[in-house]
Amino acid sequence: MRDVECVAFLQWALPRLGLRWPGYRKVRAQVCKRVHRHLAMLGLDGIVAYRRYLEDHPGEWRELDRLCPITISRFYRDKDVFDFIAAALLPQLAREASARGHDRLAVWSAGCASGEEPCGVALAWHCQAGAVSPPLALRVLATDIEPAVLERARAGCYAASCLKLLPPVWLTLAFEKRDGRYCVRPQYQAGIEFRQEDIRQAAPAETFDLILCRNLVFTYFDEAGQRSALVRLLQRLHPGGALVIGRRERLPPGEVALEPWPGAERLGIYRYRAASRVER
Ligand SMILES: C[S@@+](CC[C@H](N)C(=O)[O-])C[C@H]1O[C@@H](n2cnc3c(N)ncnc32)[C@H](O)[C@@H]1O
Repeated sequence: MRDVECVAFLQWALPRLGLRWPGYRKVRAQVCKRVHRHLAMLGLDGIVAYRRYLEDHPGEWRELDRLCPITISRFYRDKDVFDFIAAALLPQLAREASARGHDRLAVWSAGCASGEEPCGVALAWHCQAGAVSPPLALRVLATDIEPAVLERARAGCYAASCLKLLPPVWLTLAFEKRDGRYCVRPQYQAGIEFRQEDIRQAAPAETFDLILCRNLVFTYFDEAGQRSALVRLLQRLHPGGALVIGRRERLPPGEVALEPWPGAERLGIYRYRAASRVER
């Protein structure tokens, strides 16, 4: 399938799935490759035939939806964001959780890919923030729609290229080399639970001090999808808690329940205004 055909197809199909073409523009190759393989599996000879097939088989839209997740990630993605999380955000959230009488700091990474983001938060806690914070346990729930990435996340072994941005001392402390890959030492993965969940349909039952939802909802979902996912995220966030979105993402216009986190105005970090609790 030629790139130009794939682009035209995605521009037609993505909005019908509640997804945004501009989010996919730069990373479309991953989806085009999957669509190409899928057409071969269906025995269809091109994108025109597939459009017809979609029109004749409404259930096929679910299959196409499964081909669309972009799973690119890396440790310490957006270094200045993670520097802030480690040096300021986690210690402050831990003080506030402790003042509320909680014995643990609860974090949700929504769209966790192969574990780079939730594991990065655990490293930030164990290697830096935990030392200057009240002595809380760290619980990280990491959810993703894609079973294959969750399997890799549970295995916890990564190529060196994925770890390049990590502070070198954390790399030495928290990883051991196995068969040419870097594997997270068990004590740094202990508080992390990986779970398959589609953020469009479900959310965890518990409430969190910190939610990261980066490079997913606010890049790939259309505005209606962003708004309904945001309601779901805020229902799980403590008033005063933090929501981290991608460095280059924007909240839907008119969002008033969140305010930029002081000192992190350009980092996509927001505080959930205490008076704005979204009821379940
Ligand atoms: C581009 S990655 C971002 C990973 C990480 N948050 C980061 O910023 O590096 C997006 C992740 O969201 C997952 N995803 C896509 N649609 C989802 C959905 N509806 N519910 C939950 N996860 C989803 C993908 O499988 C992928 O692993």
